[in-house]
Amino acid sequence: MLKLPGLIDPHVHLREPGATHKEDYDSGTSAALAGGITMVLAMPNTKPPIFDQVTLDLVLASAKKKAHCDYAQFIGAGPENAEMAARLAPYAAGLKMYLDSTFGELRLDDMSLWMPHFEKFPRDLPIVLHSESRSMAAGILFAALYDRPVHIAHISLKEEVLLIRAAKERGIKVTCEVCPHHLFLSKDDIPGISHGHPGRGEVRPRLAEKEDVEALWSNLDVIDCFATDHAPHTLEEKDSNTPPPGFPGVETILPLLLTAVHEERLTIDQIIEKMHTNPKRIFNLPEQPETWVEVDETASYQVKTSQMYSRCGWTPFEGWQVCGQVKRVVLRGQVAFENGKLLVEPGYGKNIREEQNIE
Ligand code: DOR
Ligand code: ZN
Repeated sequence: MLKLPGLIDPHVHLREPGATHKEDYDSGTSAALAGGITMVLAMPNTKPPIFDQVTLDLVLASAKKKAHCDYAQFIGAGPENAEMAARLAPYAAGLKMYLDSTFGELRLDDMSLWMPHFEKFPRDLPIVLHSESRSMAAGILFAALYDRPVHIAHISLKEEVLLIRAAKERGIKVTCEVCPHHLFLSKDDIPGISHGHPGRGEVRPRLAEKEDVEALWSNLDVIDCFATDHAPHTLEEKDSNTPPPGFPGVETILPLLLTAVHEERLTIDQIIEKMHTNPKRIFNLPEQPETWVEVDETASYQVKTSQMYSRCGWTPFEGWQVCGQVKRVVLRGQVAFENGKLLVEPGYGKNIREEQNIE
């Protein structure tokens, strides 16, 4: 049995408020624990989006009643809320800015709308950028001009990882994450995921070329975090005429990465660094005392939606043979998950920012 520290997923969509038929704080944090994740940072592109005191209070009230694992909630950057977002920063995971094609209403196209956020948001927390290709380059320029940290969400392209390497070498305060679907899937896998329903292959950023996937693997030293971008939509929605983009991911990230360890493409130390040590440092997250994950590294099994806690009812990794299974998760001294069973009640999960503000 292998013992890992509590794993942190800095990028999940829990769909609360507004789309709890896809996921909510209850189902999403249950799924996280089943996947060996003890802390999640939740995205703000909900309905309504989380962008002020009222909407933050709204989501945190649900979270307090429902969460099984620990969490913090991102604030979304809108055209007029830079002052408010900066004031709410101590209660938030960080600030999320959507600079590119995405799901929801929070996209900011005009660069003059980025400026007040870069000026005002406290520098002890990163601004997380949903950016792709050239918008990512613009985001890195902003990090340099305003001398403040940015964290690039879900990088997927060779040009992106190479540019981030160059920016880091020049001392620009940039960190980044990569998602399992951009490490384990390319464009060529879309027909296999789709089963005749092209919407199932839709995700932003899109699945990339094989060459991009290879570049991510050969530049793992530049990648600070593994994050799922857990973006649950129901199978019915994915198979509709207007399929929303996004893949679920919290229940498959660890077995996929452990399979890569088994195949000697990755090390356990890299998993610990990118799913515990680095996210903790980048997002100023607290130590979770008496928290760990026990996995059976040798257990080989097939990924099956029927065994998942997510409400979305599908996975792009259906039927994959993986090696490495979460057996037991201990969160703050309590066994939270064991042999497929969830053992903590809704409300056991803590808002880590609330705890930090009390200290
Ligand atoms: O595929 C995606 N799904 N990309 C995004 O940017 C948003 C996400 C979602 O919320 O569904
Ligand atoms: Zn996302």
